[in-house]
Amino acid sequence: MTAPALLALRGVGHRFRVGGGFLQPSRHLQALDDVDLAVARGETLGLVGESGSGKSTAARVMLGLLRPETGRVELDGAPLEGLSRLAIARRVQPVFQDPYASLNPARTVEAIVRLGLEVHGIGADTTERRDRVAAMLDLVGLSPRLAASHPAALSGGQRQRVAIARALVIEPDVLICDEPTSALDVSVQAQILNLLLDLRARLGLTIVLISHNLAVVEHLADRVAVMYLGRIVETAPVARLFRAPRHPYAQALLASALAPDPVAARRRVPLLGAPADPLNRPAGCAFHPRCPHALPLCRTQTPALGAAGAACHLPSSDTPSQETEP
Ligand SMILES: Nc1ncnc2c1ncn2[C@@H]1O[C@H](COP(=O)(O)OP(=O)(O)OP(=O)(O)O)[C@@H](O)[C@H]1O
Ligand SMILES: [Mg+2]
Repeated sequence: MTAPALLALRGVGHRFRVGGGFLQPSRHLQALDDVDLAVARGETLGLVGESGSGKSTAARVMLGLLRPETGRVELDGAPLEGLSRLAIARRVQPVFQDPYASLNPARTVEAIVRLGLEVHGIGADTTERRDRVAAMLDLVGLSPRLAASHPAALSGGQRQRVAIARALVIEPDVLICDEPTSALDVSVQAQILNLLLDLRARLGLTIVLISHNLAVVEHLADRVAVMYLGRIVETAPVARLFRAPRHPYAQALLASALAPDPVAARRRVPLLGAPADPLNRPAGCAFHPRCPHALPLCRTQTPALGAAGAACHLPSSDTPSQETEP
């Protein structure tokens, strides 16, 4: 029997109620729809998809910050529901996009990183905790003299190192990184990514990496899940996905974002029509109005993720690499 996934979403669905006001009914926005996603221990899972596809909502569900309406989250095969916020935080830690917003401006770097140890009762006394914090700051490449600084005195890259130290100091099982480098200068982004790579190798981290930057995902992830309007439309090992995406949306996403090989990019399909509107999710396959290959079936029946890793009715999505001629 194979070991259960370290972290898994099983049929997770979530709607937000939006709008509504005087004589106006509120509407439901389906942010997640029947999402199945499993992360193995030691794996880095990339989560990609255009803005509004539900990536951060999935992250909040994994962190136990949002309880999904339907489906469940599992840690080592056990439902998250039975666990307290604290117990979940002990094992699943976030690194968010904006380190400035996520760090308490009134605390020193040392106190920010030490807080997790105190909250979770890790370390025998303050001396031991201070030692652990010092070791952690060293591990993330922060000079010991910054321990007494406040976040305002740090650069964006240094702040993100503090956020990573704070997340890792309690030795969680999983790190959920939601756009961890998007708010940083380009020159600093590579440093933070290299730090994550280095820490992953040293600590054997399990990472969920959400990023708009597909080059970042290609560089770091072992496996990628592509989301479109709240659903996973394709999941595959990173090399396979980037070499030969099977879902027309994944093909278009990669073609629009990457230009490593202009000939291959041209052979992938362009996106048609208007951008996705989460409040008006099309029936059937939500991608069908923008899909150049849509069949009548695609308008009525939502495709499930098939054995080939793509949620698509097209027979070609079952077979390796379907690329249209220019
Ligand atoms: N608290 C909320 N109330 C209402 N709608 C929400 C809420 N949070 C998210 N949404 C909506 O749910 C959908 C998914 O949002 P989410 O933030 O998960 O997308 P995302 O993939 O992370 O996008 P981005 O790439 O822009 O960060 C969007 O349409 C968003 O507007
Ligand atoms: Mg987001």
